[in-house]
Amino acid sequence: MTDNPTLTVRDNRTGEEYELPITDGTISASDLGKIGKTDDQAGIALYDPGFTNTASCRSAVTFIDGEKGILEYRGYPIEQLAESSTYLEVAYLLIHGELPTKEQHEKWVHEITFHTFVHENLKSLMQGFRYDAHPMGMLLSSVGALSTFYPEATKISDVDLRHEQMVRLIAKMPTLGAWAFRHAQGKPYVYPDNDLTYTENFLSMLFKMSEHTYEPDPRLAKALEVLFILHADHEQNCSTNAVRSVGSSQVDPYSAVSAGIAALYGPLHGGANEAVLRMLKRIGSKDKVGEFIEGVKNGDERLMGFGHRVYKNYDPRAKIIKKACDDVFEVTGVNPLLEIAQELEKIALEDEYFVKRKLYPNVDFYSGLIYEALQFPPEMFTVLFAIPRTSGWLAQWTELVDDKEQKIARPKQIYTGDRGLDFVPASERWA
Ligand SMILES: CC(C)(COP(=O)(O)OP(=O)(O)OC[C@H]1O[C@@H](n2cnc3c(N)ncnc32)[C@H](O)[C@@H]1OP(=O)(O)O)[C@@H](O)C(=O)NCCC(=O)NCCS
Repeated sequence: MTDNPTLTVRDNRTGEEYELPITDGTISASDLGKIGKTDDQAGIALYDPGFTNTASCRSAVTFIDGEKGILEYRGYPIEQLAESSTYLEVAYLLIHGELPTKEQHEKWVHEITFHTFVHENLKSLMQGFRYDAHPMGMLLSSVGALSTFYPEATKISDVDLRHEQMVRLIAKMPTLGAWAFRHAQGKPYVYPDNDLTYTENFLSMLFKMSEHTYEPDPRLAKALEVLFILHADHEQNCSTNAVRSVGSSQVDPYSAVSAGIAALYGPLHGGANEAVLRMLKRIGSKDKVGEFIEGVKNGDERLMGFGHRVYKNYDPRAKIIKKACDDVFEVTGVNPLLEIAQELEKIALEDEYFVKRKLYPNVDFYSGLIYEALQFPPEMFTVLFAIPRTSGWLAQWTELVDDKEQKIARPKQIYTGDRGLDFVPASERWA
């Protein structure tokens, strides 16, 4: 390997050769754009729908090695964070780049805890939704609406103001998510209880009824803490890319994050755990698993919760979630679908079809079982993803705002339509 690696590209249209520097395993698209460029002709561009092999940024937030099944936040393995950290400490780590000192942690937790309340007018706005409104629709609208309550949020280069909005967003997401849940049930919205931890308070806002103080089961609060840590960031996925793309216009963070929520709303992103549950219910019993696997191998259907665009190994988050299942089921009783899921996993991990294609359980394989055991309807599953992902979106957003190399997102296209047609007025066309 040389110190200054390059890629030589020969343009066979002209016979000319170009030497492009390779930096961090990439070539720059603008260097590529110089190839074959003339006054009448654009240079070479990349065609990459879905950005499957295009780096859109430099990022120091999250590292993934999909082949080896490694996930690290700011260099710390996800397994260690899930085992020994808290969601708020992880949120601090993601946003600030390093673990907090004791004082920084106390200040951070205090700030988040005391921004959990939302303006009463926002509550009225949420109450205006139809009784059967999807909680994700309610969440993305109410987060977007937050921008109107904090007009100073548009000053994104002011570091202190930026910090304040990030605190507000992380603090208010559980409130908005829980209210969207209560709304669907026709139950009164529960105000935050600032004596509780982040996940305890969330459980309180979800499930509190007439009791004076809600006392969450510590095992459930801990399991939720683990799930929140696992979902906090996952580098340049669809919703993070949406936050960055919308954020690149220098809009306020509430609007950028609501774009992330919108992206997560889609079934290809946040909806897979719901599909896993539907699949398990359809299979119905352990003895039908073999027959189902045959159907998958014949190409009749997919084994939902298996396979991943990036992970070609066991998704490290799936291993941790499997453990969290035991803790939750100890409180709620075992979800009967667990037996089917375990049998599916056992057979699939040994089967040539799945082994050859490197198909392993992903984070969604077990998370739906936990959410269902916690009495969440499937529409809430994505809300439970959006709440913790907010810290990751914000870490990526603030990195973007500080990144001098970033520009407003504006991909190229390959135009395939007509050109230079003569317009005929409607009065003549329809005559
Ligand atoms: C996640 C997913 C979309 C990744 O897709 P991808 O990287 O584009 O992989 P491909 O669709 O190209 O699949 C590669 C091969 O594995 C097969 N495959 C991938 N996922 C499969 C699954 N869940 N069940 C059965 N076969 C699967 C494909 O049929 C293909 O086989 P082929 O080479 O014989 O055509 C895909 O694995 C999937 O649909 N999984 C189920 C849904 C899910 O759990 N999504 C949540 C992701 S966090």
